[in-house]
Amino acid sequence: MLRTTGPVLRSAANSTVQARDEKRYEHRQENLVTRRPCECSCCRHGLHREVPGAGCGDSYTCPMLRSHTGLLLIALASCAAPQVLPLTAASPAAAPLIIAHRGASAEAPENTLAAYALAIEQGALLAECDIYLTADGVPVLFHDSDLERTTNGRGPIINFSLAHLKELDAGSWKNAAYAGETIPTLVEFLLAVKGKLRPVIEIKGKDREIESQVIRALRQAQFPSEDVMIFSFHYQVVEKIARLDPALPTTWLVTPPEAGEDAGPFFRRALEARVSALGVSHDKLTPSFLRRAHESGLSLFVWTVNDAQRMVQLANMGVDGVITDRPALALEVLRGQATAGVQP
Ligand code: G3P
Ligand code: CA
Repeated sequence: MLRTTGPVLRSAANSTVQARDEKRYEHRQENLVTRRPCECSCCRHGLHREVPGAGCGDSYTCPMLRSHTGLLLIALASCAAPQVLPLTAASPAAAPLIIAHRGASAEAPENTLAAYALAIEQGALLAECDIYLTADGVPVLFHDSDLERTTNGRGPIINFSLAHLKELDAGSWKNAAYAGETIPTLVEFLLAVKGKLRPVIEIKGKDREIESQVIRALRQAQFPSEDVMIFSFHYQVVEKIARLDPALPTTWLVTPPEAGEDAGPFFRRALEARVSALGVSHDKLTPSFLRRAHESGLSLFVWTVNDAQRMVQLANMGVDGVITDRPALALEVLRGQATAGVQP
């Protein structure tokens, strides 16, 4: 199980509160990511809203995490106590997960090992990547369907073998300092981040048994299913992953139903596929969709949020995860975790 071990530069005045909230945050992550039933005293005493299939992913004002012998009255009083952190408008106990989108991709070339190394350096605990299968069936990290934008190659990525793709430069387009970065295989990525980051694997394709290939890579890297999240826009992909490995938490990436449309069938479908979360573009999120997701026991992640004010706004709305190209900024804004050089 990963721990919150990223670099944390705190002011002395906030260290106690932040240490406590880090503990809560860690607790929240474990439960949101693994969907294990929450074992904390708070949940056992019914102080949190239970979220079926997602652990207690709602509020983490949980003083009994520190003192399992605490009295109920003390616990309730502590739950009500206001908490103040710099740059944070909402209670940090409710801070969403922060997921580095394609790595620390604002600064480093997306979906390369350099982008994940930077995300780790900045203190990120989760990072997203995009997966296609090569012509010879190897899962690799890549976002676009074509090679042009982010490499010196041309054409659809699925047309090329791994050997060909490994010849390409996937770093120079971003910055000459990253010249020579290559397209990583999923196994290479998993081994590079193991023990440091929880991978969020977005499966882009939907054919050639890509789900089985991704699971095979996880086994090859000896990566526990509970430490991973699988995302996809394709319903059949998340549905199949849940059948192949029920321990792998899945997130269905969606466009919310139109206002006035009956959302019932939509949420029933999500639950039938046994997803633990939904993902939406942050500008498509409405309070009613978020509420309905939570009422259905689903977590809600939003992408791609790179603006500090918007991060705070979404945290205040109660989203469970923010996917960002700027994990250092999100860590500072949402958790008061200072990282050198952040420009809000
Ligand atoms: O994680 C969701 C988000 O990554 C989906 O959009 O285009 O960045 O893959 P995209
Ligand atoms: Ca993605």
